[in-house]
Amino acid sequence: MSKITGDQLLEAVYRQEIEQKKNMTKDKIKVGVDLGTSSIVIVVLNEENLPLACFSEDAQVVRDGLVVNFFEASKILERLKYKAEELVGRDLLFASGAIPPQTGEHSQKAVAHVMEAAGFEVDQVVDEPYAAAQVLEVHNGGVVDIGGGTTGISVFEGGEQVFSADEATGGYHMSLVLSGYYKISLEDAEKHKRNPQKYEEHFQVLYPVAEKMAHLSQRFIQQYGKPVELVYLVGGTTVFPQFKDVFQKVLGIPVYQPFHPRLVTPVGIAMLSKEF
Ligand SMILES: Nc1ncnc2c1ncn2[C@@H]1O[C@H](COP(=O)(O)OP(=O)(O)OP(=O)(O)O)[C@@H](O)[C@H]1O
Ligand SMILES: [Mg+2]
Repeated sequence: MSKITGDQLLEAVYRQEIEQKKNMTKDKIKVGVDLGTSSIVIVVLNEENLPLACFSEDAQVVRDGLVVNFFEASKILERLKYKAEELVGRDLLFASGAIPPQTGEHSQKAVAHVMEAAGFEVDQVVDEPYAAAQVLEVHNGGVVDIGGGTTGISVFEGGEQVFSADEATGGYHMSLVLSGYYKISLEDAEKHKRNPQKYEEHFQVLYPVAEKMAHLSQRFIQQYGKPVELVYLVGGTTVFPQFKDVFQKVLGIPVYQPFHPRLVTPVGIAMLSKEF
């Protein structure tokens, strides 16, 4: 386990704080790859789970947990691998990947094939929420992941994932709403949405979408059928500071919002990967 908290680790990855060691080749390292609906992320950690490298590229190569553009996905990952290798100063031989819950063997194989095409030997392909739970040290509670395309929840009991569900409302839908409201292209809306200086202004327009995401999560918890004591927010869409309050209000339980929610899953994938 890491010597620093999950939040400290996320902050360090975000800032690309590099552990400056003279002899990196003798260090054990671990590599995680997250092939998401809206981006591909690579994270390299050392054996103490301290960050060595993190690179990402926006990409539309995965849809509904399935790789829809194999060639593009592997080319992007190859680029990210190369950048990380330059920074770390050694070849990245092994890596782990991840898939959303309940997407099955087929998507697991597809992720593994993309990684192999980019030059990795695949260690394992884990469940995304399980990876996120490692970083936030979730034993009991719900991990709500709101990425590009979906709002999903995974409930944990004693560290075991016991329930998961998702539905198609994500960051993409928020960009659509901004695009409609400001009468700008979807591309511009996506850019504007990411400007932290505008979070407050934009959230007034986006509030109903966030509320819908909270209601979806509430419905999933009802389907699960037992009380959930705490909910953790992950995924790039939950970066708006207002998400915590919206979810707390709708769910009526405490909500934990980590720093840099977009990085939680990729960092977790690396944490779970084989050292070499
Ligand atoms: N700085 C930011 N501010 C606001 N939204 C952001 C920011 N960065 C990313 N996003 C949004 O987060 C979403 C992507 O989140 P994330 O990277 O967790 O998704 P993903 O893993 O690619 O997708 P999925 O989990 O649905 O497969 C996108 O809709 C993107 O617009
Ligand atoms: Mg994701």
